[in-house]
Amino acid sequence: MNVLSVASEVFPLIKTGGLADVAGALPAALKPHGIRMRTLVPGYPAVMEKIGATTRLGGFETLFGHPAAILAAEHDGLDLLVLDAPTLFNRPGGPYLDPQGLDHSDNFRRFAALSLAAAEIARGILPDWTPDLVHCHDWQAALAPVYMQHGGAAHVPTVLTIHNIAFRGQFSASTFPELALPWGAFSVQGVEYYGDVSFLKGGLMAATAITTVSPSYAQEILTPEFGMGLQGVLAARIADLHGIVNGIDTDVWNPQADPHIASPYAAASLKKRAANRDALRERFGLVATDGPLFCVVSRLTDQKGMDVLAGVIDMIVENGGTLAVLGSGDPALEAAFRTAAAMHPGRVGLVVGYDEPLSHLMQAGADAILVPSRFEPCGLTQLYGLRYGCVPVVARTGGLADTIIDANEAAVAANVATGVLFSPVSEESLRLALRRVFSLWRQPKIWARLQARGMKSDVSWDMSATRYAALYAGLLAKG
Ligand code: ADP
Ligand code: GLC
Repeated sequence: MNVLSVASEVFPLIKTGGLADVAGALPAALKPHGIRMRTLVPGYPAVMEKIGATTRLGGFETLFGHPAAILAAEHDGLDLLVLDAPTLFNRPGGPYLDPQGLDHSDNFRRFAALSLAAAEIARGILPDWTPDLVHCHDWQAALAPVYMQHGGAAHVPTVLTIHNIAFRGQFSASTFPELALPWGAFSVQGVEYYGDVSFLKGGLMAATAITTVSPSYAQEILTPEFGMGLQGVLAARIADLHGIVNGIDTDVWNPQADPHIASPYAAASLKKRAANRDALRERFGLVATDGPLFCVVSRLTDQKGMDVLAGVIDMIVENGGTLAVLGSGDPALEAAFRTAAAMHPGRVGLVVGYDEPLSHLMQAGADAILVPSRFEPCGLTQLYGLRYGCVPVVARTGGLADTIIDANEAAVAANVATGVLFSPVSEESLRLALRRVFSLWRQPKIWARLQARGMKSDVSWDMSATRYAALYAGLLAKG
């Protein structure tokens, strides 16, 4: 089976969050199921620099008047189709933001172009390859099923995966005429959303199947609290909505052979983590205490509950804990952690920025990772935490609730616990959870069992790849 995956980021070429990890890992995970997945990504500068030799494939010469071509390239096991459209993608800044941190003003056109290119490939414009199915990720690729419906590829089934429904790709109605869609598409059945255009809403209406990245989040987004206004659209499509939890790339994230950590280790040699903890302390200027070393690797945003965490730092320090924070995002949250670091020298450390190698050392050296998200479609850092024996302390929501087993008394006794869960996301309940963490920490045998049990959890793609393969096969059989 040939599948075209369409994503606005893919690890290791370009990453701002978990979407890149998932798009990067899916092709290898699906290969044993007889699926050849090619990934269509925009030719951002970071992508063009890294891909090396490419072959220019025919097809189209412009998209929305912008010069555009599809290049084929291989990189790190990925079979890539790169949308080389320099005036749209080859510019300073990130995939979505300009160097000032503002959305690129033509994002609607840039990601409509990505979606249109996917639809053209589905229509069969490449000389030697046509996908049997198109798998789109998030709003940036969500117009592909819409273009396919209207542009000669309606027979090709589509899957749209929601990684985060908070991002709807919503633009003013004035953008609609530029999208080259028939007028009828600006309707309740199409991309129209409260008088605006929403790429995600259009895709949710048009896709053959919809998935999201955990079973709990699939339930949650049907409610007004989590559906971000799209709960009605999803309710109408409930028969085609599936929750499939993410896995992680267990080669990239392998504590026994990780080039980014000071001392490799396994579940049977947890003592070797000590050298990683020392290296981590040094990086963050932290002193050794007899309490746990907590870490955070996160976008610093409201979604991630970082304001709630900032409010309990005093309690962590009072109980002998230390905290290392790696992240960037909301300037007010960055400032809050900077203030905490200044108030608690040697006890709280902050690195503002995005640092992939350091994120590995944090999982390898810290005792626990804090993920107090208000909502979390899947979450990957808690899965890396499991794999690295860095005990996840997480909010009971979405994929966090689906992947971590709370260390309540029964679960500890049965030796199935892998972390600590709490709800609601408030300072009070996080403090209670931390109190439990400190108490578990003072029982070294139990703590070591938590770590070892986590390290034995199956966080690979195996089970989920089987589910995606079955979903694809079902859609093809129906078609
Ligand atoms: P989201 O995609 O919502 O940000 P996930 O937990 O799914 O959340 O994925 C986040 C990914 O980005 C993980 O791979 C995590 O390690 C990584 N990450 C987040 N912040 C940073 C950072 N400051 N430096 C390095 N990696 C980071
Ligand atoms: C999104 C979600 C995150 C999920 C990731 C990959 O960024 O916020 O929870 O893990 O996508 O699916």
